[in-house]
Amino acid sequence: NYYAILMAGGVGSRFWPVSTTEFPKQFHDMLGTGETLIQKTFSRLSQIIPKENILILTNELYNDIVLEQLPLVKQEQIILEPVMRNTAPCILYASLKIKKQNPDAIMVVAPSDHWIEDEMQFCANLQHAFDFCERNDDLMTLGILPTFANTGYGYIEFDKLDSRPIKKVKQFREKPDYATARKFIQSRNYLWNAGIFVWSAKNVLEAFQEFQPVMFDHFMTGYDVYNTDKEDAFIRENYPLAENISVDYAILEKAQNVYVLPATFDWNDLGTWGSLYDKLPKDEQENAVINATVYLENANNNIIRTEGKKLVVIDGLTDYIIVDKDDVLLIYPKNKEQEIKSIVSKINK
Ligand code: GDD
Ligand code: MG
Repeated sequence: NYYAILMAGGVGSRFWPVSTTEFPKQFHDMLGTGETLIQKTFSRLSQIIPKENILILTNELYNDIVLEQLPLVKQEQIILEPVMRNTAPCILYASLKIKKQNPDAIMVVAPSDHWIEDEMQFCANLQHAFDFCERNDDLMTLGILPTFANTGYGYIEFDKLDSRPIKKVKQFREKPDYATARKFIQSRNYLWNAGIFVWSAKNVLEAFQEFQPVMFDHFMTGYDVYNTDKEDAFIRENYPLAENISVDYAILEKAQNVYVLPATFDWNDLGTWGSLYDKLPKDEQENAVINATVYLENANNNIIRTEGKKLVVIDGLTDYIIVDKDDVLLIYPKNKEQEIKSIVSKINK
């Protein structure tokens, strides 16, 4: 009864120029391991979930890349969105398809572009969450011990005195402002939301029905045609009408029956070049190098990446992102990495 929904529709624009709309981050070997992020995620999940029950949710632009990178995946496992509407609509749609196929399904919803090193711990945590959702009518998320007031994450408040391994969530707050995030960190009873959710198809659909009734009814009108040859036409016409909202705001902030399992694996959401830098091995001057051969003088704390083997010579540069790719060369200060996203949209115009 185990299923997975792999979220692979994001664009990852802060990883430009490697990640682009035509070829986003999840389809790249960001770490230089020989496997792309989606390949790594697929093999991690397939340790507990039957391969044929792993569904890939993505934009129709990426269908061919998915088929090429995941040769074990059949076309009917790829759920295509005609337009991007963030995570709530696609999770609702996929959950309805799964429920129709297997009313007792229990699923994990997981991003395809995160870095998780300890696969054994990941699988142990996931199994624990599956067992919980088999016995309880609740929604679950995996929590990460926070290290700083990051405003790009969801925060999960739990009761510090709750000594159970899986804790009741008191409050879920998506992307608080900086002052609030700081208060959360100081109070020590918050975790970061890893964006990895576990629940039964039945319970998540009940939550959608309660908290997003308009969206729920909208996708329910197609229930009869899901998993048939009439589905395509229905989705093409109706998917674009769905509200653009993430599952965090749509469901998790509102539901009262959310539980959290503090994860025992290392986790990095690989959101920016800096977060990739943090995870990579470094030389004595704290430079992280991917693919390149380097000759460095007075160069410290840089991340240097070339597409294939290429000699890079640098003198006198500290705290920079240096990325060489076909027709683009990026040389950008690390402390302004968040701005890459807006630079990319300016360049595209
Ligand atoms: N299929 C599909 N369609 N996938 C999507 C879409 C879409 O329209 N939009 C986003 N995704 C995928 C992304 O590729 C990513 O893997 C995942 O869904 C989460 O989307 P993000 O856009 O990366 O969300 P976020 O980083 O702002 O916030 C989420 O993740 C944080 C942890 O990384 C939230 O769940 C936060 O609460 C959480 O802390
Ligand atoms: Mg993200």
